[in-house]
Amino acid sequence: MKKTIKDYNLKGKKVIIRCDFNVPMDNGIIKDDSRIRKSLKTIRYARKNGAKVILLSHLGRIKTEKDKEKYTLKPIAESLSKLLRKKVIFIEETRGQKVEDAVKNMKEKDIILLENTRFEDLDKERESKNDKKLGKYWAKLGDIYINDAFGTIHRAHASNLGISKNIKSGIGFLVEKEIKELEKLTKNPKRPYTIILGGSKVSDKIGLIKNLTKKADYILIGGGMAFTFLKAAGFSIGSSLCEKDQIPFCKELLEKHQDNIILPIDIITASEIKEGTKTEERFINEIQEDEIGLDIGHKTLEVFKQYIDDSKTVFWNGPMGYFEIKEFSKGTKDLCKIISSSKAYKIIGGGDTARAVIEMGYEKNMDHISTGGGASLSFLEGAKLKALDIINEK
Ligand code: 3PG
Repeated sequence: MKKTIKDYNLKGKKVIIRCDFNVPMDNGIIKDDSRIRKSLKTIRYARKNGAKVILLSHLGRIKTEKDKEKYTLKPIAESLSKLLRKKVIFIEETRGQKVEDAVKNMKEKDIILLENTRFEDLDKERESKNDKKLGKYWAKLGDIYINDAFGTIHRAHASNLGISKNIKSGIGFLVEKEIKELEKLTKNPKRPYTIILGGSKVSDKIGLIKNLTKKADYILIGGGMAFTFLKAAGFSIGSSLCEKDQIPFCKELLEKHQDNIILPIDIITASEIKEGTKTEERFINEIQEDEIGLDIGHKTLEVFKQYIDDSKTVFWNGPMGYFEIKEFSKGTKDLCKIISSSKAYKIIGGGDTARAVIEMGYEKNMDHISTGGGASLSFLEGAKLKALDIINEK
């Protein structure tokens, strides 16, 4: 068992808490603050117990100097100050004199938030490549490190693995809860166990899909990635998304698991991706050359419903279509409804899927909404999670 924040005496200690404040932003406005709200318990606990709280997080992926404007953590500090009803001091640097002075001057219960850890990526990807010196530097700022960023638990970065290698460590309440909920799926899940996968990229999820076929009874595939599978199964998919180099892999998987991997049987198509466009509902053998498949059809939903209704455990990651546009949102919306009314133990895996469920008002019907998309999938497939493995044992 991993040590948790509760296993440490925090009084007067500088406690570094790695959070995942990677929230959807639009022009500096936070579009969904659930990840921030879910971090509050650990931060409050640390304050209540007299810690000096140093918060770290990434936001977005930083590739150019310009990305820094878009992905500053300043709005996060403002949001946190409101939610905690306590000033969160924002330091516009990730390291250096300003950071060190701010840490030196901290009193018990103070909270500071450093700038986006991935700003360090502009210099040889020091954060994402787990630069040893950077991990050591951040570790030196504190006495105890608490990893409460489940969304990045599958990453081996300087702000998680790097710091943990250098100081005492534990997990926060958010990570503890995620592990408890997801373990219900890895340790003897109630069967039938169905995993629903959507989203656009097969290549992102190749390894996962292969491993998940060994764990779950059924894998239902929708969203953009379904078309590479449909192509591999011999259908014409018109101008739909297709990762040609993944076709052999999809073919092999379908041959091995033809009764367990369930693909759409009908599709909503259009000739362009825009609001108000004319749509058609087609059987998968009727897709026209100039059409793009952008959502699953109602017959597919009926098929998916049969599997879901029959399941005792359901995990869903990835939207069923281009749900940001109303014309292509029905598949994702109806799937939300179907899952929420099923009697199975229901877990939603992070990112867009969580956002869709929350926006559509089905949050309360789910047993758990994970804060991690890639992270929850990695956890379920049994991948090695270095940032978690390194945390001290009880
Ligand atoms: C997420 O949103 O899934 C996490 O914050 C991880 O982000 P990343 O995929 O950019 O590492």
